[in-house]
Amino acid sequence: MRWWPNSRKPSPGVVVAGALLIAAGPAAAQQALSVASPDGRNEVTLAIDAGQLTYRLDRDGRPVLQPSRLGFEFRDAPPLGDAVRVIDTSTASADETWTQPWGEVREVRDHHNELRVSLEEERPPGRRFVVVFRAFDDGVGFRYELPEQSALGDFQISEELTEFAIADDARAWWIPAFQQNRYEYLYRSSPVSTLDTVQTPLTLEFHDGLHVAIHEADLVDYAGLTLVGGREQNRTLRAYLAPWADGVKVRGRTPFRTPWRTIQMADEAAGLVPSVLGLNLNPPAPDSLAAASWIRPMKYVGIWWGMHIGRMTWGSGPRHGATTENTKRYIDFASRNGFGGVLVEGWNVGWDGVWYGNGDVFSFTQPYPDYDLPALAAYAREHGVGLIGHHETAMGIENYERQLEPAFDLLESLGMHGVKTGYVGDRTPEGHAHHGQYMVRHWRKVIETAARHHVMLDVHEPIHDTGERRTFPNMMTREGARGQEYNAWGGDGGNPPEHETILFFTRMLAGPFDFTPGVFDLKIESADGPPRSPEQSRPRTTLAKQLALYVVLYSPLQMASDLPENYEGHPAFQFILDVPVDWEETRVLDGRIGDYVVVARRERGGDQWFIGAITDEEARTLDVPLWFLPRGRGYVADIYADGPGADWRDDPGSYEITHRPVDADTHLTLKLAPGGGQAIRIHPSR
Ligand code: NOJ
Repeated sequence: MRWWPNSRKPSPGVVVAGALLIAAGPAAAQQALSVASPDGRNEVTLAIDAGQLTYRLDRDGRPVLQPSRLGFEFRDAPPLGDAVRVIDTSTASADETWTQPWGEVREVRDHHNELRVSLEEERPPGRRFVVVFRAFDDGVGFRYELPEQSALGDFQISEELTEFAIADDARAWWIPAFQQNRYEYLYRSSPVSTLDTVQTPLTLEFHDGLHVAIHEADLVDYAGLTLVGGREQNRTLRAYLAPWADGVKVRGRTPFRTPWRTIQMADEAAGLVPSVLGLNLNPPAPDSLAAASWIRPMKYVGIWWGMHIGRMTWGSGPRHGATTENTKRYIDFASRNGFGGVLVEGWNVGWDGVWYGNGDVFSFTQPYPDYDLPALAAYAREHGVGLIGHHETAMGIENYERQLEPAFDLLESLGMHGVKTGYVGDRTPEGHAHHGQYMVRHWRKVIETAARHHVMLDVHEPIHDTGERRTFPNMMTREGARGQEYNAWGGDGGNPPEHETILFFTRMLAGPFDFTPGVFDLKIESADGPPRSPEQSRPRTTLAKQLALYVVLYSPLQMASDLPENYEGHPAFQFILDVPVDWEETRVLDGRIGDYVVVARRERGGDQWFIGAITDEEARTLDVPLWFLPRGRGYVADIYADGPGADWRDDPGSYEITHRPVDADTHLTLKLAPGGGQAIRIHPSR
């Protein structure tokens, strides 16, 4: 028998929430409770089967997750999750639309049904906990709550037992976890049953076309999630949390709640983007932050690529990049071209020697003598440009936290509203994991400190994005994947042409990525020595693809990463000047993971559309109908395409710019070169 909550009448044919009691034999009574998404397609069911607590997930009546375990193991306390009974249930639902201060889309609809199930151990110590499920049309989320109780006060989680028993031996797109370079690995694909320990978001392609992404949301005072598989070659993945130095995963005290575990679903790859499930599971921002005028998406340039290609240095000496004179040159360039900011790395004492070993040495307030920080901040302000600070910690967290207040005081006193932070290393000197609870606490502290001091953050070597930007819109962007810099020094040739076509459906589901597109000197001829060969690390893309990445890889802070001299007078630079960094709406027109992507985005508050199309190493011809344009209006398309003979290996710089009238009935034929792309600006004709 299904029951409906008194408070709400389901619309016909839509399962809102229900409970089903089944007698499964005299000894093993089975109890199950379920909740479905507003469209009725996604249904998650909690069951106690022979005393074991599990959940399962179905879409259109077909299994996505088979019964999967829930619970915890503790240090110095028995595990929680077996031999439990339901003591209470409640349901709720919501349908509201909220506005992002900036984003891939302006409006986000939060439409879900919720089921809360309170459970109690049948035997002493009789601990209580709650599992909360939210079912949306684009996926489900669930979290644990541990209420305050005498049987459970302080605790140390040694293992979270949450499982994801994948119903199909789906193709997983994965990067390994617990490796030295954090999330900076090339994605590989293989059947779920072969996985070892992998990072999230983990994107899965089912054999019937269903696409699933497993991740987490609202990660606060807990350890970062990874997934471990491969046990007995089955398809069950289990949560595996990053540890403290002593092996404990999470230290806490009741009342306590965990992050959400999220399972996003779409009928095809294109349906995964834009991904808002995680944002809907984070608390909203306070008004003071949501409307803050100092939080501003922008394009920026910086004293940065010069170091990565070996032309300048972070440390002091004859090639020091962060000099007063050089910074003025960048500010002048930014001001002339309407860039919002100039990033300067290597400005502060601590870079000399092997900098990534200097975690206990970096000063975050003392500039090198050849860098006149107050004068440059004033010069930037006079020129309408923001100077962006840089705090590389090299994982010296104690050193950084000791200086946190003075460092952010300094930024605020100089009117600097942006800083890029860095965490090169895989653990702290004390041995705490890069993505563990210790670091999660640290990052939250930095976000809060930055908010108090009116500073926007761009975090490199971050933890994966779990939607913090909903609550803290000053948490603008982050790295957390192999970015452009691997094309300067990867040592393995750089990112392969397919890289960004995978990122779009994996890493990008978590949130913005400071990839730093826009390299024009694709053979890196301006570095000392001869141009780099295709075998050496360099961008394995065409120039048109570098432009398309501004539309494909979303970031509210978007860098034009090349040296100013490579942009000056270059006709294709116009696209970088024109492309927005904040969007009203996003429509994925076509794409296959690892092959190609075509995405259209409308500028926020305006009529212009931008299309970014990228391919892997295969040349492709794509038919792109412009059905998304309003009918009855004429537009002009500025098309930045791969030129004749363009190819990432031999002729990456060949491009063509053309202009043509278009409207809602137009079909564009996009010809993409091997490793190529196309960037299009569509603006209303006069
Ligand atoms: C690695 C970052 O990804 C890069 O952008 C930065 O320049 C260096 N660390 C130095 O902080």
